[in-house]
Amino acid sequence: MGMPVNPNENIVVTCGSTEAMMAAMMTVTNPGDKVVIFSPFYENYGADTILSGAEPIYVPLNPPAFDFDREVLEAAFRDNDPKAIVLCNPSNPCGKVFTREELTFIADLCKKYDAYCITDEVYEHIVYAPHEHVYMATLPGMFERTISCSSLSKTYSITGWRLGYTIAPAEITERIKKVHDFLTVGAAAPLQEAVVTALNFDDSYYDEVLDHYTAKRDLFCQGLDSLGLEHNVPQGAYYVMMDISEFGYDSDLEFCEDLASKVGVGAVPGSSFFREPVNHLIRFHFAKRDETLNAALENLKSLRDKIKPRG
Ligand SMILES: Cc1ncc(COP(=O)(O)O)c(C=O)c1O
Repeated sequence: MGMPVNPNENIVVTCGSTEAMMAAMMTVTNPGDKVVIFSPFYENYGADTILSGAEPIYVPLNPPAFDFDREVLEAAFRDNDPKAIVLCNPSNPCGKVFTREELTFIADLCKKYDAYCITDEVYEHIVYAPHEHVYMATLPGMFERTISCSSLSKTYSITGWRLGYTIAPAEITERIKKVHDFLTVGAAAPLQEAVVTALNFDDSYYDEVLDHYTAKRDLFCQGLDSLGLEHNVPQGAYYVMMDISEFGYDSDLEFCEDLASKVGVGAVPGSSFFREPVNHLIRFHFAKRDETLNAALENLKSLRDKIKPRG
């Protein structure tokens, strides 16, 4: 990973990255602080910020490319003096993988405005070529101000085991341990022992994980292409966002309900991830068996017959 990590001083094992993020947020923020969050975002970030008594400041990642306006981001720092920024890399829901250059820009803002970066890197091993995962904490001067949150859930397909962790400088780790003690006390000890087997897998395991999801991404995206359905191509993680503008719905929730009941395919309304009024995107999840993905694509063939465009 390229970070100066001493397991005793820099790591806290948590109940999934969900608890890691909450513990990190409660550790670095005080009530009344501001926290910058890119939108769309994994739903916990807003709630974690509010539960910590802090206030979320949202900065858009603009579809379809999900890039951000650097001036807007800098203004969020300049105008709000935030205590931290949350960085989900690769991103759920939009599959964005931040480039080294984008991360350097964000890192420079953190240094200039004296803010922490709390990362969520649960999809660190699911990054599709030619994109590459760069750990924020490895950028110059960033280990000192980064709390890296990650998880064993996705990498080893053990979401129910609830094993995650924070990596942070020793003095911040000491504070995270105190918060963690009041949140969950500890992750289940037998599962921590069992997962050591996975942690000793060699590099070929991670190559296989990536090949596995690359094949699923290609299967599903090519299927959508063959049906002429517009979508993004994720750079990481295992979600695809489809553009439903052609159906003329005002509500993506209503579209998803129709998609489930009339076409037999489940998707999540994109609006549940956006702070802005974005209603033309829905999120599919392709970490499924190939038979399931093929069945979904088969059902989607009848989409335009079963859901007619609204005027
Ligand atoms: C971006 C992101 N962070 C965190 C989580 C939760 O992971 P964990 O099982 O480690 O709590 C998820 C699960 O979907 C996720 O997509």
